Amino acid sequence: MSVFAELKLKHWRLEQDVDGFLFVYINRAREAVNSLSRAMLLELETIIDAVTSNPVEGLCFISAKSSGFIAGFDIREFDKFRSAADILPDLEYANTALSRIEKLPFPTVAAIDGFCMGGGLELALACDYRVATTNDKTRLGLPEVQLGLHPGFGGTMRLCRLIGGKDAVPLMLTGKGLRASAAKRLGLIDQVVKPHSDLRWTARKLMQRKPKKHKATFTQTLTNSRLARPILAKIMERATRKKARPEHYPAPFAIIDLWRKHGNNCPEMLKQEAPSFAKLFETEAATNLRRVFHLMEGLKSQSKGAKFDLKRVHVIGAGIMGGDIAAWCALRGFEVTLQDREQVYIDGAVKRAKSLFAKRAKPSSARKAAGLRLISDLNGDGIARADVVIEAIVEDLEIKRALYADVEPRMKKGAILATNTSALPLDQLAEGLKRPGQFIGLHFFNPVAALPLVEVIAWEKSKKSVVKAGCKIVSDIGKFPIEVKSAPGFVVNRVLAPYLIEAMHAHNEGSSMDDIDAAAEAFGMPVGPIELADQIGLDVCLHVTGTLGSDENQAMVSKQLQPMIDKDKKGKKSGEGFYVWKKGKPVRKNPGGDMTPKAVESLAQRLISPLLEECERVMADQIVASEDMLDAGVIFGTGFAPFRGGPLHYKKQRDQGGTSQ
Ligand code: NAI
Repeated sequence: MSVFAELKLKHWRLEQDVDGFLFVYINRAREAVNSLSRAMLLELETIIDAVTSNPVEGLCFISAKSSGFIAGFDIREFDKFRSAADILPDLEYANTALSRIEKLPFPTVAAIDGFCMGGGLELALACDYRVATTNDKTRLGLPEVQLGLHPGFGGTMRLCRLIGGKDAVPLMLTGKGLRASAAKRLGLIDQVVKPHSDLRWTARKLMQRKPKKHKATFTQTLTNSRLARPILAKIMERATRKKARPEHYPAPFAIIDLWRKHGNNCPEMLKQEAPSFAKLFETEAATNLRRVFHLMEGLKSQSKGAKFDLKRVHVIGAGIMGGDIAAWCALRGFEVTLQDREQVYIDGAVKRAKSLFAKRAKPSSARKAAGLRLISDLNGDGIARADVVIEAIVEDLEIKRALYADVEPRMKKGAILATNTSALPLDQLAEGLKRPGQFIGLHFFNPVAALPLVEVIAWEKSKKSVVKAGCKIVSDIGKFPIEVKSAPGFVVNRVLAPYLIEAMHAHNEGSSMDDIDAAAEAFGMPVGPIELADQIGLDVCLHVTGTLGSDENQAMVSKQLQPMIDKDKKGKKSGEGFYVWKKGKPVRKNPGGDMTPKAVESLAQRLISPLLEECERVMADQIVASEDMLDAGVIFGTGFAPFRGGPLHYKKQRDQGGTSQ
């Protein structure tokens, strides 16, 4: 028996071929997806010890799972660390292992199919060569910034060394995953192979041929030079400040800083990476962003165990919402039939869908396939075959009910009827249905392609299995479901309404639009409430605040908005609302506002507090299952400052004096 066969490993499987090439199969035990864990790193050290004392012809890391190479370091393991002092020894351990791989005296290859992110890419970067498939699921990236961190296993240095800081730093700042062909263009990988060709054979060839290791091009290396770095870093910092504030999201600034200071000194950059990582790890932002990751997993888990196989979707109503829902489902790989009362509306939606496919479906064959999956269906022939029928017609109880009376008898057994209503009670809509248990709400947000959350509305007669299936439909189309009880405003509109109303009060009392929006943005909201009202549409805002606000608030909002609506100043869609809109952006005279930091803070608290209090009322009314679900829903449904960890989490910390306001 060979020395490798004798190693007792749980998470890696070793296979040496007759020519002495060792294939190290990554196979994390009891997990569907490979992520790196402490236990895996300990075993990796055993493997490195074995190949150091028994050199092989070449070593190739390859996944034993079809789900991908390595999706990153296991975030659950981060929760075990309490402080920087806790995490530093583990970082050092991992770094020693990767540095030893880098120094092995025989060729090493990472053979990548599927996700190769975070710690997975850091392992691949320590190899001599990288080869990846052009499989649609293959992505290479360092997304740690999304958790308020940066790479910690030498990735910052190795990526900057391999492709130059000018390309490497932005890749780390966005956390974006590159397809194999884009990664090849940058020099991040050495070779691409077609999805079904033999990855192992290609890796073996590389080890046999031992070509020169890829090095950064002259221009890429130049970007790491002492002269270029300060200039490029300044540009990157300026661009980053437009998207994030250092006091909210310190990680991107730490990445730029690390490279600016040490980008041409690899040993020093490697040395400084770990303490910088550990410092970030202790920040409130990183703790809360890890919480957001867990909340996201919680949302996804709602569809676990659902027995529902989604293949065909039928959408009725080809307006703003229905048209975009249909396009999104087709983009995500489902066959979609789209119905309206007139062909002209369907044609308009199909045209809009084409521009979505042009932006999101790559390569051109995928674009074409998405186009073929979206079928215009004036007569509703698709109803009989659909697994789910999504109704998104005009917001009128009688018209919707009349439509259901026609549609329900034509649906196949077990199919789900879902409404996208924003405000109509589901029990009233369901009157007259023969199978009320099959009826739920699927409340999408506008714009559909941009907003990740869909509220799955349960009412008293909807079957539990159907609500679960609703969550699965939402997960299958790549969105996050949140199960919500049928009640006015559900969750997202209900908590947004008091926030918008408070902004109007503040405006009436003399605060400028710029000051109001600047204060909310300083708190961390993606856009301020005035700009948000313009984006939603002032007519829709009036309707929402009208159904959800008190009589007094309704009167105040109506007095403010109705004259603007009458003059066709409805916000972004009509080119003017509170702001004048040019090229899809509001013209803000003084985006930073004019207030002292203290006044900004006090105005922000004034605007946010009604939203927080409404969240508490949502919980008291038992509209969602848990506080975590609510926090998740409000983050993904409204963009509520993710680094705050969610509205209820933030409120608790704030009230206990444990957070920056
Ligand atoms: P819309 O007015 O843009 O589109 C409605 C479409 O339904 C029109 O194309 C119309 O021709 C069609 N239609 C009307 N009656 C029909 C019938 N009997 N059979 C077939 N087609 C019919 O409306 P929008 O904004 O897309 O809203 C649709 C639904 O989605 C409403 O229930 C609304 O409350 C809800 N919603 C709207 C949001 C928004 O921001 N616009 C956000 C979330 C939900």
